[in-house]
Amino acid sequence: MPRSFLRDDDLTATEQVEIFDLADTFRAERFHQQPLAGPQSVAVIFDKPSTRTRVSFSVGIAELGGYPLVIDAQSSQMGRGEPIEDTARVLDRQVEAIVWRTFGQDRVEAMASAASVPVVNALTDLFHPCQVLADLQTVRAAKGRLAGLRLTYLGDGANNMAHSYLLGGAVAGMHVRVGSPAGYEPDPAILARARELATDSGGSAGHDTSAKAALEGADVVATDTWVSMGQEGQSDDRSSPFVPYTVDAEAMSYAAADAVVLHCLPAYRGKEIAAEVIDGPQSVVWDEAENRLHAQKALLTWLLAKARGV
Ligand code: CP
Ligand code: NVA
Repeated sequence: MPRSFLRDDDLTATEQVEIFDLADTFRAERFHQQPLAGPQSVAVIFDKPSTRTRVSFSVGIAELGGYPLVIDAQSSQMGRGEPIEDTARVLDRQVEAIVWRTFGQDRVEAMASAASVPVVNALTDLFHPCQVLADLQTVRAAKGRLAGLRLTYLGDGANNMAHSYLLGGAVAGMHVRVGSPAGYEPDPAILARARELATDSGGSAGHDTSAKAALEGADVVATDTWVSMGQEGQSDDRSSPFVPYTVDAEAMSYAAADAVVLHCLPAYRGKEIAAEVIDGPQSVVWDEAENRLHAQKALLTWLLAKARGV
């Protein structure tokens, strides 16, 4: 089974740095490497909506010399319940890698177990590891380092972004704090895994129900929608408990004066983030969105090199 990227801790600290370095090279030189020249194809499959992921993988695969085969799962036989393993066996004879945005983490794991090509998690209910690669690349560029920085995420502590910050940040040696209401804490097993990773990296991981305590001295402040894809029916319940976790000017006053602000987008101004913050001088969200392109090109190049033994 080739190396896949299904969760943030699928990369060691050293491998994460290799990918950030390569991503920076791609940012400086868009056509630095073309491992998909041919063009060879990569399947990019969506079970959920997307703008950034669809665009950045499509453009990135094309810039790597390849052909992005974008599949809306509902219009394919996957939408009618064809087994994941059968889909994997059909795709892997024709494409070099499979990128998939879906619901359960078990689904990308099943694809990776059956496929003879790398599988990339383009967001599941549990993790969004490609986003956090781009986010950490953005922070590294803004701050010159990752290890030792304090990253605070406010909002739904049980969602994919919170979990990916915990794991990806802990691998990088950051001090990751999740501030969220009771009932919306990170998955205990993922928090425990982040703490285990942090023991090796010199970072730390924690949860706090006090937004103010979580923000104390933060170098990076991150947030995300309170209503993730698939939770639209709960949007009434997912408003008032989160109001104290809004990233607004008051929240920013508890962070370090030079803190940068991340949001994976799409953003809901006036809900999880105030317009004055996302559109203000501390926001790096547009670099963050651009870095999806560079980070994912680096990731695919790295995974293809591993799979091809080069
Ligand atoms: N941040 C992110 O993954 O955006 P899309 O849902 O638009 O792909
Ligand atoms: N947590 C959000 C991220 C969107 C990119 C969701 O899953 O909808």
